[in-house]
Amino acid sequence: MLAKKTVILGITGSIAAYKATDIASKLVQDGAEVRVVMTRSAARFIMPLTLNSITGRPVESSMWNMSSEFSIGHVTLAEVADVVVIAPATANIIAKLATGVADDMLTCTVLATMAPIILAPAMNDNMFLNPITQKNLAKLKARGFITVGPGYGRLASGKIGTGRLAEVDKILDAIKQVMGQKSDLNGRHIVVTAGGTHEPIDPVRYISNRSSGKMGYAIAEAARYRGAQVSLITTTILAEPAGIDITQVETALEMKTVVAQVVKDADALIMAAAVADYRPKSFAKAKIKKESSSLTLELIRTPDILTEVKGNFIRVGFAAETEDLLANAQKKLKEKQLDLIVANNITDKESGFGVNTNKVIMISRNGRVKDLPLLTKREVADKVLDRVVGLLNKRS
Ligand code: PMT
Repeated sequence: MLAKKTVILGITGSIAAYKATDIASKLVQDGAEVRVVMTRSAARFIMPLTLNSITGRPVESSMWNMSSEFSIGHVTLAEVADVVVIAPATANIIAKLATGVADDMLTCTVLATMAPIILAPAMNDNMFLNPITQKNLAKLKARGFITVGPGYGRLASGKIGTGRLAEVDKILDAIKQVMGQKSDLNGRHIVVTAGGTHEPIDPVRYISNRSSGKMGYAIAEAARYRGAQVSLITTTILAEPAGIDITQVETALEMKTVVAQVVKDADALIMAAAVADYRPKSFAKAKIKKESSSLTLELIRTPDILTEVKGNFIRVGFAAETEDLLANAQKKLKEKQLDLIVANNITDKESGFGVNTNKVIMISRNGRVKDLPLLTKREVADKVLDRVVGLLNKRS
């Protein structure tokens, strides 16, 4: 999503400036071209050379540096920007931007750019809550600036309060959200499930499977970037994606109850979760002791969520198979009356449970079969959502 995108990373004078190195590094890893602009105070907290080494690009800090490729036309940087993100953003830079001051490279760049601007404030809690800072932020937001954070927690002073720089992943999410907005799911509500259910045997043991939740999270995140309202019902908690409504559940029965509630007004249900087909008939309230040489557990069927939850939404199932992939998936598509099934070949080490990639075949209700190459789970998510968008558009 960030490949070949130019991200201007503005760093201002806060103790949180060191976290900008992580942001820069992750942006570079995502393929972005990162141009760092530091204020003079930022350079007191962190060496420009550090950012220079991470991004492989000179760091801009002065408008009067004649050896810089951007120094003469100080608005050139503003013109090449796809997005400008200031992290951390101090009360001072927020005040300057709110009043249109342009007295250094960063403020000039912001004033001159037409690109979206993201601010991640970080400061002392009293400074943040001061009505002047609040008024300045409100003014900038009204002009279309996007803010991320600040968070609540331990501040540099040792005090607990609101003023911490937002988590780096949240800032990256915001950047990707701004860059990747496809908006073809705007106004749609998509319900996604993720992870393997845990079916308890006694207070310490349960039956489960190897699902990590990665596939479901990838779908939830991709749907969010495309503008959907997303409800994610999951057994696993991975890095929390911004703007997604997450409910954690444990068992198949719990998952069914939550899905049935949230799917009422949904446009699509995408079940990437590996739901247990059977659960122990009874739950032992105390830990089962190893008193005999064998133990028999009686298992009973769990409800089939995809089949039993009623409503007029697009139904997408996943099928993880070790043999007869196509035939087994086609059978499930028919039996569960799905609009689409995504069949995973889990015999391939790079596909299925736990890994970041997946090799799938998409089979539609009308029999159309699409065999995809090995892709990242995020890419698979977008392919599945392309189909969901197509189905939704056909309906309306
Ligand atoms: O989580 P990861 O580590 O990223 O791995 C991803 C995955 C391999 C778990 C995922 O891509 C996947 O294949 N999920 C479905 C696993 C499966 O085999 O499901 P199934 O064949 O048992 O069920 C078919 C469909 O019915 C699934 O969409 C399932 O969510 C749904 N189902 C199953 C049982 C049940 N009681 N209720 C259901 O709704």
